[in-house]
Amino acid sequence: MRNNRKIMIAGNWKEHLTVGQASIFLHGLEQTVQTRQSVEVVLFPNVLTLQPISMQLDRRKFRMGAQDGFYEDAGAYTGEVSMAMLRDLVHYVLVGHSERRHIFNENDDIASKKMQAAVRNGIMPVLCIGETLQERLAGETNQILHNQITAGLRNLTAREVGACVIAYEPVWAIGTGEFALPDQVSRAIDYIRKQVEHLFGERASENIRILYGGSVDDHNAGSFLSIAGCDGALVGGASLNYHKFAGIVESAYRVHQSRLGVR
Ligand code: PGA
Repeated sequence: MRNNRKIMIAGNWKEHLTVGQASIFLHGLEQTVQTRQSVEVVLFPNVLTLQPISMQLDRRKFRMGAQDGFYEDAGAYTGEVSMAMLRDLVHYVLVGHSERRHIFNENDDIASKKMQAAVRNGIMPVLCIGETLQERLAGETNQILHNQITAGLRNLTAREVGACVIAYEPVWAIGTGEFALPDQVSRAIDYIRKQVEHLFGERASENIRILYGGSVDDHNAGSFLSIAGCDGALVGGASLNYHKFAGIVESAYRVHQSRLGVR
């Protein structure tokens, strides 16, 4: 069953695109990316461009996600956009992206509230977790992953957890051009799945999808996507380049074909 599962390629359009720029970019992407049945491509535009992009987007080709969402459904929270406001627009939402954690001081408690708000509103959350370079060098990687998983999935049922996505994104590999070695990613993915199994049981751990993110491009994507247990990639910088992103989708297609034993 696992071999048949679609590979997810998520494009985090994290640069500050205006509505006009995002629209032109999407047009180019639709011309360049060859969509495949076996690859689920999800675009994460900034909140301002979500609405116009959703009207322009060919939903047979791409799904949409939000880069963030607030955890209260309603109330006076100047400037925030809640999951309840996003629910009709997006399939997915990123929660606890390292830039949210490190630049905006979002802690595990906030990530947990956002996970619950996403699930409550029928949006599939992509919980982003990963260690800093300092933590890795200090041998604390597993401890950090453990803490972020335990906190992020708190108060969710095993069934809800099975429908979530976790993106393993080592902080030192995000936007740096320095990517993790497939062996490091493989170990982290195994560890994450074991933790989910320990907390929520075998079924949740089989069903939850785990992605790798951090300087993924068209040259290295295949090496991550072929890791056993890796369900896809969260792509930042390279998702804003048509050719690179199209190349990543193509790699995912090839990896899927080889999983099925097709040459
Ligand atoms: P990157 O970003 O691919 O540019 O490293 C990853 C991300 O934003 O999640």
